[in-house]
Order: sequence, then structure tokens, then C-alpha cells
Amino acid sequence: MIIRKSAVEIEQMSRAGRLVSDVLALVGESIRPGITTAELDAIAEERIRSRGGIPSFKGYRGYPASICASPNEMVVHGIPGPYALASGDILSVDCGVTLGGFVGDCAYTFPVGEISPAAQRLLDVCQAALAAALEQCRPGNRLSDIGHAVQTVTEAAGFGVIRTLVGHGIGRSMHEDPQIPNYGEPGRGPVLAEGMVFAIEPMITAGSYDVVLHDDDWSISSEDGSLAAHFEHTVAITSAGPRILTSHPKCTFALPVEEPARKAG
Ligand code: MF3
Ligand code: CO
Repeated sequence: MIIRKSAVEIEQMSRAGRLVSDVLALVGESIRPGITTAELDAIAEERIRSRGGIPSFKGYRGYPASICASPNEMVVHGIPGPYALASGDILSVDCGVTLGGFVGDCAYTFPVGEISPAAQRLLDVCQAALAAALEQCRPGNRLSDIGHAVQTVTEAAGFGVIRTLVGHGIGRSMHEDPQIPNYGEPGRGPVLAEGMVFAIEPMITAGSYDVVLHDDDWSISSEDGSLAAHFEHTVAITSAGPRILTSHPKCTFALPVEEPARKAG
């Protein structure tokens, strides 16, 4: 069952969302060659707690940290640790914050120092895929229109959409119905309606879309070792169109879709 949120609840969710985007912006400012992913996690947790939030990931099914930090070919769920970033790396950082009883979930893949044109293109395409998916988050569209948008943008660029990891509904729990695949035929599934709130999260690779789970039972990497990217926003479906909740004016990585043009036709 998809739990729809009232206008008041969406306002509350926007506060959790703003905090998590503020945390990701801070992590982005802190990224430099030499810093470890454990240090980035400590920076994130300190900011979350100092603003009255709770790191939603910490303790979730036993997950030990406040962020996921997944370098290079790692797609998601990298556990922060002694890995020190090097110039040329990309680092996917995912963070969830609970504030006022609601969860915000957001991810961004950061370049570290100078990265290759190929890596930059992967990041650009993943962001474009997310933007296209968010654009579909309007009353009257169907759930599968979201994944179809991700797949279309990603495959047009020659990249692969991971099949076994999905976006999700979000609210008082981090994971609510529905699951939101990043691929599929358009026009299928539930009709999108005002008050639905989704975490949309394309996860793509520069090579094949098969992934492997590491021995820590969390980290997931591309099977062929190709670079991976992950961008995520929490978005509310409103009568005025998609409202991104994990974006705020000072956020350095806000996507240019805050006030999207209405779809023609
Ligand atoms: N942000 C992830 C998601 O959207 C959750 C990370 S799993 C955790 O599903 F264990 F780290 F919380
Ligand atoms: Co998520």
C-alpha cells in the first residue's frame, strides 16, 4: 500500500530532506584526496545530530554508519572505513536523516580532484537520468514511467542500469511501498497521485549491469569492475508537479528541476 502524505506531512518531510541535502553538501565540501570515508562519516553524523536529526542508516538491519561511501566500481552500501580518497576517484555518498519522525534520503556521486572525461560523463548521465525520472513524478503518470525514463537516458548514453537495486516509497519509514525499478516499459503500475513521496535513485555503470555483493554482506560493486554512479532525491508528487524535498538553496548540487516546466500535452 502506498501511503499518501498530507500537505502538512510533506512540509515536515521537507525539513528532513533539507537537512540531508545540507549534510551531503557538507560531505562534498569535505571531500579531498587523502580524507578517509570514515572521516566523512564522522563529519556527516556530527552535522545530523547537531541539527536534531537521527542518522536513519545507523542500525538499519545492523548497518554500522551514517552514510554509505562507495568508491569507483562500488555501486552502493560501501561501509565507511580506512579507505583514503585519491584524485581521480569518484565517490558515491548516500545518506538518510530522520527528523520530526520523517525520513529524507539522498545520494550524490562526487568527483575527487581531477577525474577522467569518461568518469565525468557517467556522472552527468546519471544526474540526467535522475532529472528525467523526477520529471515523471506527476499525478496521472504511472509508476513505471519513472524507471522507463531512467533506462532511456542511461542506455542512450551506452551505460547500464542495475536491475537488482530499486528506489522506494519513503515517509515515516525509510522504505515504504512501492519499489521503484530503474528500468521497464512505460505506462504500467499504479497511477501516481498527489501526496505520494518517493526516493528515486538511478544506479548505473559504465559497463554491464551485473553486480556482486562483497564479503562484508553490504557493499555492492559492478561485477565487471566498471565505474558506477548513484544519485538520489526524495520527491513529493504534488498538483503543481514534482517537489524535490532533498534540495535547498545553499545546496551545491541541486538539480535544475526545482520548478520544472509542465509536460506538454
Ligand atoms: N539509501 C539506501 C536506500 O535507499 C539505504 C541504505 S541501506 C543502509 O535504500 F543500511 F545503509 F541504510
Ligand atoms: Co534510498
